[in-house]
Amino acid sequence: MKITYLGHAALQLEIAGKYIVVDPFISGNPLASGIDIATLKADYILLTHGHQDHILDVEQIAKTNPNTLVVSNYEIVSWLGEKGLNGHPLNHGGKKVFDFGTVKYVTAIHSSVLPDGTYGGNPGGFVIWNADKCIYIAGDTALTLDMKLIPDTCPALDLAVLPIGDNFTMGYEDAVIAADFVQCEKVLGCHYDTFPPIVLDKSAARQHFEAKGKELLLLEIGESISL
Ligand code: NI
Ligand code: MN
Repeated sequence: MKITYLGHAALQLEIAGKYIVVDPFISGNPLASGIDIATLKADYILLTHGHQDHILDVEQIAKTNPNTLVVSNYEIVSWLGEKGLNGHPLNHGGKKVFDFGTVKYVTAIHSSVLPDGTYGGNPGGFVIWNADKCIYIAGDTALTLDMKLIPDTCPALDLAVLPIGDNFTMGYEDAVIAADFVQCEKVLGCHYDTFPPIVLDKSAARQHFEAKGKELLLLEIGESISL
């Protein structure tokens, strides 16, 4: 499993030869100007919730990947369906086996209106696994006790992708606790630096994680890791 950070909360996963783009917000993020949306491969697009900073580039990516399948909650999949995109709806607690692995839609504490004001359902996160690896993508969320259910209901995590920018989501202090709740030692931080309220003190965040015995990965935009 290969994971490329596309800035903000956007990722591209490569699993079993399939490309999965998560929460694409690239054209609106000056920090991500090095990412070329026109050549981004997406067999699937996973959307945690309806906010603009998670779905801005979905339609653009679907144009260059006409067979892409959007996986999100029912309301977002329906809204994008009216724009001609193919989707597979999930709701909280539900999972579905795709050709690259299993995706489960899990709880997030946040909000989820779509850019035109349409109700965007409840926000969520994803747990994604195959026979080898399992990752948790929390989406925009506060620290919540529901995270404690993940180790009981999913395979052991190899990585947790957690928002750490504070203000609109949990900050890094709560993200360390979230890592404990989901029983994962390795965290990829996201949702920081994009806007003034979420600028991150990276050395403080790293030190905080280190003091708690956890690893915090902060990737350059465009940088990849393999699990
Ligand atoms: Ni949001
Ligand atoms: Mn957001």
